[in-house]
Amino acid sequence: MKNFYLAIETSCDETCAAVIDSDGKILSNSVFSQANIHSQFGGVLPDVASKNHSEKIMIIIENSLKSSNIKINNINKIFVTNGPGLINCLMIGVITAKTIGYVNKIPVYPINHIEGHIASCFIENEITFPSVCLIVSGGHTNLYFISNLKNFKLIGSTIDDAAGEAFDKGAKILGLGYPGGVLIDKLSTEGDVNYHKFPIANLGKKSLNFSFSGLKTSLKYYINKKNNWKKNINSIAASYQEAIVDSLLNKLILADNIYNPKSILIAGGVACNSRLRFKTNEYFKNKKNVIIPSIQYCTDNAAMIAKRGQQLVLNENVTNVDLNVFSTSKN
Ligand code: KG4
Ligand code: ZN
Repeated sequence: MKNFYLAIETSCDETCAAVIDSDGKILSNSVFSQANIHSQFGGVLPDVASKNHSEKIMIIIENSLKSSNIKINNINKIFVTNGPGLINCLMIGVITAKTIGYVNKIPVYPINHIEGHIASCFIENEITFPSVCLIVSGGHTNLYFISNLKNFKLIGSTIDDAAGEAFDKGAKILGLGYPGGVLIDKLSTEGDVNYHKFPIANLGKKSLNFSFSGLKTSLKYYINKKNNWKKNINSIAASYQEAIVDSLLNKLILADNIYNPKSILIAGGVACNSRLRFKTNEYFKNKKNVIIPSIQYCTDNAAMIAKRGQQLVLNENVTNVDLNVFSTSKN
């Protein structure tokens, strides 16, 4: 008999709910993006984000249940993101999940946001292990070696800014809005990637770690020195994006050389980037199976949280003992 699970995600600035069945089919995926609200501030304001979560969360959950055609009394488990993320944002999702669970006598289980991003690769694809997985978002830039669904081995991460942060801070320097990645991606399509060589951090030939803080500083210096830079904003954006993309791709290639996986996975908001998608697919064409989820599953969403929950249930690995929220990675 099929079971149905409800998932809730409020770790940053997207208010999300989804319903999945026990076979892993996504029945609904509802998202309220606060991007327009935060764009006027040039980044996510945690208090504004949690206020909006509290206003939207029930509407989004009701919307998700309605579009899946599943009633709350047919939900067998609730999954909720408990970290990493913004504490007061996570709390809205967790308290809502606990309350719905308590009132309707449904068990509630915590899901790690990054494991959710990894699980997003499995929503639309059958994946052959072992895999190397790159998670690139506003808060994280991590490389994992994955040989089963239970343990994800961290093999590299950023030592300073995340790739998404590099996009967002770069966009701010260029006077664009938030979220910066989308805007830089759009501008770059009309620009020359070879217009200027921005530096790619070299942390050693064998290192799988990343660094992006120097890149952002070099963009700042470059702009300060050039009076007429706005005339060439498309090419500056394209060159800046190229440095981020090449830095990510170089480490993916190194991880591929070291681990020789059967598949290469990329997920998280930065996985929406058209240049990263293109260059990765080009490089690994006829060599490796490259899996990048469709855009709706790359940026924050609850379908990925639902998918991770369903994977844990299949592996008898769900636990509801620790529902405390946490802000930074627990790896
Ligand atoms: O995964 P996500 O939605 O939220 C976090 O968990 O952080 O990622 C958000 C990040 C932002 O930094 C945003 O600028 C970036 O993903 N992003 C992109 C693109 N779309 C979103 N970066 C580059 N190119 C894009 N097209
Ligand atoms: Zn995320």
